[in-house]
Amino acid sequence: SHDFFCDKYLQGQHWVITAGPTREAIDPVRYISNHSSGKMGYAIAHAAIRAGAKVTLISGPVNISAPVGCQLISVISAEDMHQQALKFAPESTTFIACAAVADYRVANIASQKIKKTNDAMHLELVKNHDIVADVACLPNKPFMVGFAAETQNIEAYARGKLVRKNLDLIAANDVAKSGQGFNSDDNALMLYSAIDKTEIPLANKQIVAQKLVSLINQHYLAKQI
Ligand code: CTP
Ligand code: CA
Repeated sequence: SHDFFCDKYLQGQHWVITAGPTREAIDPVRYISNHSSGKMGYAIAHAAIRAGAKVTLISGPVNISAPVGCQLISVISAEDMHQQALKFAPESTTFIACAAVADYRVANIASQKIKKTNDAMHLELVKNHDIVADVACLPNKPFMVGFAAETQNIEAYARGKLVRKNLDLIAANDVAKSGQGFNSDDNALMLYSAIDKTEIPLANKQIVAQKLVSLINQHYLAKQI
């Protein structure tokens, strides 16, 4: 069996990883987004490259640089990310959805800057495509790993997403706890499959990523038999 101390154990695998936030335009100067830093997805990309995988990193706007050796596909909106994910996923062995995708976009993006003429304003939002769920519907779907950012009922909500989105694994983090998850340097995860769970205790995201990459590979190999 392989672990993260062993060199190049992902040789021959191609991982496609989504990371960071998306930005949903309101008008030419404004957008809706979230606090995702991209650190977790970039740390996974780095760890997977170190283990010998080919990595395609489909990333929303972040302030960190891509790991050396990865193929970086920069996107802005959820719909851009959806398009690129469906383009690259069919050639991958493993798909990791680490991005904090905006659930909704603005129904009608204003072509000119919106002026503050009214005392109240309403934005109509429409739901974005679910990227990881759509990749999981591909005929030759890769090994599928999702994330679940939750503030309560972590296991139940995470397992719900695992089943609903047709995933092999889901990594859940408790974003209500301070010092972990969104925009933090540290994280703690629970990794759920249909039949088991594994805890990755609170540590620097680089360490968490190394453990997660190794665990994902173990589940991937187990599924190939
Ligand atoms: N995800 C995705 N495309 C979306 C929304 C989410 O690929 N449009 C992916 C995320 O990258 C993550 C997983 O789905 O891997 C779960 O995201 P999360 O926001 O926790 O779940 P949602 O299904 O959006 O449900 P909710 O936000 O209501 O909890
Ligand atoms: Ca969501």
